Amino acid sequence: NEIRVFAPATVANVACGFDIFGFAVDQPGDEVWLKLVDQPGVRIIDIIGDQGRLPREAARNTAGIAIQVFLQKIGRTDVGFEMILTKHMPLGSGLGSSAASAVAGVFAANELLGRPLTTLELLPFAMEGERVACGSAHADNVGPSLLGGFVVVRSYSPLDVIRIDTPASLFATIVHPDVEVNTKDARYILKNEVSLKNAITQMGNVAGLIAGLTKPDYDLIGRSMVDVIIEPVRSILIPEFNEVKQAALDNGALGCSISGSGPSMFALSRDLETAQAVGSAMQQAFLSVGITGEVYVSGI
Ligand code: HSE
Repeated sequence: NEIRVFAPATVANVACGFDIFGFAVDQPGDEVWLKLVDQPGVRIIDIIGDQGRLPREAARNTAGIAIQVFLQKIGRTDVGFEMILTKHMPLGSGLGSSAASAVAGVFAANELLGRPLTTLELLPFAMEGERVACGSAHADNVGPSLLGGFVVVRSYSPLDVIRIDTPASLFATIVHPDVEVNTKDARYILKNEVSLKNAITQMGNVAGLIAGLTKPDYDLIGRSMVDVIIEPVRSILIPEFNEVKQAALDNGALGCSISGSGPSMFALSRDLETAQAVGSAMQQAFLSVGITGEVYVSGI
């Protein structure tokens, strides 16, 4: 009656697909230990690795709320869970930290109750975790963290989530600089209106990226990793953004942009060696202004 579940970090937006694209990486990720108990509700016994910064109250915790909403939905208010959450990734990093916790929590709860719901049906509950964390129930982190691989959120209402094939050899480099960006703030600074010209450019890139991934066509992937709507606004929150991006491209990356709401930046490369070289170059570019950065390289 207990289980340990790992859910991976994710790169949301993937340049042009704000709130609609995301992919999962192998590492880092969060881990939830869950135990089924007779007392209703969720009790957080401990959170490890958050330096005491996350709420211990289940209703305010992304994993806690996701499980609570799930229990209500399936009508199991007779039972509850004890939970230990282990954070293996930094908060406010743009790596989908809150999403990974919510996904691990709700997945674990579903397993312990004998899988009343399919994996895909768990998505709306994990999204509730995102709502608590940043005020918006976006699915571009929880989707890939739950389903794995590259995910498209075609529609939010009704929810329509699709897994997309990716080339056999495709690697992500993520560099997390030691600065913090709050997702709520990073959403608040965005403009509500988009010009027709930018909408057309963005739609071309969205279509191009999906075509590039499925064909596969690496050059097309690279050409399509362009964001004319969100990146120009958010990049001001990331020191040395242009230099870091240029360093990635100069070292053979197909493309480079902000991971989720930042400050992490990610790049895609066609092989592991390039992805590693890109990571060192990006790290070096941050370091040139005294910012240290952690590098993660992972297959997609
Ligand atoms: N799509 C979301 C955003 C992801 O960019 O705000 C947050 O990690």
